[in-house]
Amino acid sequence: MTDAERSKNHFLVVAAASRGALYFVKKALRQGHDVTALCRPKDGKSALERITRLLDETQLAEGGQKAAPTPGALYANNEDILNAETYRTLLANDSSIDRVCCFVGATNLRQMMSRTHLIYTKTIQAIVVGMQQSRWVEFFYHGSSGTEGIPGQNVSQLPENFKPRWILNLGLKIPAAQNCFESEKILAK
Ligand SMILES: NC(=O)c1ccc[n+]([C@@H]2O[C@H](COP(=O)([O-])OP(=O)(O)OC[C@H]3O[C@@H](n4cnc5c(N)ncnc54)[C@H](OP(=O)(O)O)[C@@H]3O)[C@@H](O)[C@H]2O)c1
Repeated sequence: MTDAERSKNHFLVVAAASRGALYFVKKALRQGHDVTALCRPKDGKSALERITRLLDETQLAEGGQKAAPTPGALYANNEDILNAETYRTLLANDSSIDRVCCFVGATNLRQMMSRTHLIYTKTIQAIVVGMQQSRWVEFFYHGSSGTEGIPGQNVSQLPENFKPRWILNLGLKIPAAQNCFESEKILAK
């Protein structure tokens, strides 16, 4: 096995069509890592067509790490991200997947203000159960935005240099933010 092969990862990216994920996926492929993108097909297109088009439209900033001689391979899958079976099957059937990254998020104000939408806890619970039923891999999650401390013992407050901090901290009280903090507790457990 060459050094390049040894340092190559295969990321399973949850909610791969999100704004944040598109940058992550584009950079990972450029650096030679493989990516399996989980996203909902839209407008009758397949998941792979959707993600390929969105990646074409995503512009990376100049600089950064050098591109690998060979870009990574992109795969796409449209299975339900809220279903543990999705993760169980993908991890059991593809032993090369060694990382899971989650970029899921509430996408509109109604979802953000809903106490029953629970997108963060539902997704993280499904990922954890799917891994329990197949195998554990390293997991990356954006969730610590607006929290301090380690997951599970974290408090929701913004850093000192955020001004006016007390107003911005109110934003952390909305149901979507609170649900995101709850999802970190599932992970911590
Ligand atoms: N953008 C920021 O400035 C920022 C800052 C701090 C934290 N964050 C957090 O980082 C995460 C990613 O942010 P973002 O701005 O990149 O998110 P985004 O563009 O709003 O995308 C959220 C993604 O979640 C997916 N999703 C939501 N519900 C789903 C469901 N039931 N089934 C399948 N997919 C679902 C959406 O899929 P579709 O595309 O199919 O609708 C969308 O791709 C979010 O959790 C956000 O709260 C973002």
